[in-house]
Amino acid sequence: TAKNILILAGDGIGPEVMTQVKRIIDWMNGKGLTNFVVSEGLVGGCSYDAHGTPLTDETMQRAMDADAVLLGAVGGPKWDNLDFSLKPERGLLRLRKDMELFANLRPALVFDALAEASSLKLELVKGLDIMIVRELTGGVYFGQPRGIETLPNGERRGINTQVYTTSEIIRVAEVAFDLARKRGSKVHSVEKANVMESGLLWREEVQKLRDAKYQDVHLEHMYADNCAMQLVRTPRQFDVIVTDNLFGDLLSDCAAMLTGSLGMLPSASLGGDLGGGKRRALYEPVHGSAPDIAGQNKANPLACILSYSMMLRYSFGLLKEADLLDQAAQNVLNAGIRTGDIMAAGCTPVGTDGMGDAILAE
Ligand code: NAI
Ligand code: MG
Repeated sequence: TAKNILILAGDGIGPEVMTQVKRIIDWMNGKGLTNFVVSEGLVGGCSYDAHGTPLTDETMQRAMDADAVLLGAVGGPKWDNLDFSLKPERGLLRLRKDMELFANLRPALVFDALAEASSLKLELVKGLDIMIVRELTGGVYFGQPRGIETLPNGERRGINTQVYTTSEIIRVAEVAFDLARKRGSKVHSVEKANVMESGLLWREEVQKLRDAKYQDVHLEHMYADNCAMQLVRTPRQFDVIVTDNLFGDLLSDCAAMLTGSLGMLPSASLGGDLGGGKRRALYEPVHGSAPDIAGQNKANPLACILSYSMMLRYSFGLLKEADLLDQAAQNVLNAGIRTGDIMAAGCTPVGTDGMGDAILAE
């Protein structure tokens, strides 16, 4: 049966990189590899320009009803001075919140052909393949109480609260264990149980879950500060890392730089099980709208293309098709075909559409 995909290309380079993904979707549909019905909507600055809001209720409802959502990027200088509630980013935040996307998957994968671009020595990152699972809807970014208050003595105090419930911990840990089973069967659970009660609860609940349901998966607990060190010391020791919202924010950006380029990084955000194997999901490149290169056919579409590959894999179980697409990216890079952001000596420069051509040819 046909699956409904909602595409929200957004602003800046979003529509440019998404154009290349749409060509790939058409190609795969044409070959009978997929049966996707694609519809499109507005999010971010373009939605504000058209409707006075970064996300309309109608588009929000379409995202809730879709089998998967693919997003480009939002934002740009044109909308920088808008009220907080009207900013393009609010559209993205509402999508994540209303769809209850609690698990953010960020792969840190080093392509052989690009290993030189890593911030680390080649021999440390060659073949690196880490999956970071970050809790996305709880923790200190959302916990109550929060705010800035003035004390009787006139001093001001800023407050944020780190808080996790058992169910919040368990559902994100389940995502990590399920992923590990399909990968290297190893999970590192990361917190600061030594100084935070919420971290201690995290550690206990993850261990209990492993002992009850995932005895085939190897589990290690690691303090977040040590994890940051280990990531740049011996990154290949990791397979799946599961951690809270704050530590995940930092560690995923750190891991990203092991791979070298923002234009290559995909992501997935998954929601709860809706039954029948269905769960809400949003796929998007990690990069933003890159106003400095927008409209110039310079953007690297691979992050968005690889996000689509994650959709094939995680929303629809189309593993062979996802592998095909990942392999095409690998081959194109091995052939030395490069957009500006990943350019190296002796390689062939292409634009956004040239990269799309090369992937389709592969
Ligand atoms: P950015 O990711 O848009 O750009 C950072 C640098 O990386 C720029 O020099 C850009 O040219 C380059 N770059 C990014 N993606 C690239 C690609 N695919 N190919 C080649 N080069 C690429 O981050 P920045 O500049 O901090 O933010 C620009 C706008 O994007 C802001 O309005 C920001 O709020 C928004 N943003 C949106 C995000 C989203 O939609 N998820 C995430 C991050 C930023
Ligand atoms: Mg971050």
